[in-house]
Amino acid sequence: MSPELKRTMETYYDQRAPEYDDWYERRGRYRDPRTDALWAEELAKLDEWADEWGSGRVLEIACGTGRWTAHLAARPEVTEVVAVDASEAMLEECRRKVRAGAEKVRWVLADAYDLPFGPGEFDALFTGFFLSHVPPERAGRLLESYTSLLRPGGEAGLYDSLLPDGAEPVQVQRRALRDGSEYDVLKVYYTADTLRELLSRLDPGARTWDTGRFFVAGRWRRPR
Ligand SMILES: C[S@@+](CC[C@H](N)C(=O)[O-])C[C@H]1O[C@@H](n2cnc3c(N)ncnc32)[C@H](O)[C@@H]1O
Repeated sequence: MSPELKRTMETYYDQRAPEYDDWYERRGRYRDPRTDALWAEELAKLDEWADEWGSGRVLEIACGTGRWTAHLAARPEVTEVVAVDASEAMLEECRRKVRAGAEKVRWVLADAYDLPFGPGEFDALFTGFFLSHVPPERAGRLLESYTSLLRPGGEAGLYDSLLPDGAEPVQVQRRALRDGSEYDVLKVYYTADTLRELLSRLDPGARTWDTGRFFVAGRWRRPR
């Protein structure tokens, strides 16, 4: 990925922060009466799994507007959430979103390609819909570096977009915001199989699955 594309994507998300949740809520350009109900059903599964996952000191990479931060912070088993994003506007939205357990969250403005943390600092890590913006040739090394931030045996999880039927897995998409501005965004789609192939290099016991149409999920551990 060229430095320009990386910067464009960071600017895109920074500008998109106030309208980002339109995507989750299927408002405006994201509305599709044919699939809105299925989307809500599959998203509810991600919410359910998020309610049941994570403990100790958790690193969340690219927290965005905080849908998953809120789940993590609300869990009694989680003692601290370090929520990182490259966009101050996203961190601001995230601060607003988190209610239960907000006192456990520390928000950090940082680049996910250059995280300011050391080996073994966390019990768990999570990243939602960020892997799909990482060039495929960098994904393995980046996830390896994230996994090294976990204590041995620490758990990692991710959610992302499932490859739509018949679509190219690697795309540069032209995306528009409400104000009509347009940005190029790298989007890399995974299936449960291609994600397992990637994660099993980090942990032979890695598990991946999909929700049917929209989402893919993975869990793995740092080997002891
Ligand atoms: C698709 S959003 C996902 C947000 C959130 N994790 C979620 O699942 O709703 C991608 C996020 O990655 C962040 N991001 C993009 N490039 C980044 C980088 N280099 N370092 C850290 N965060 C980055 C964006 O600001 C945005 O919040």
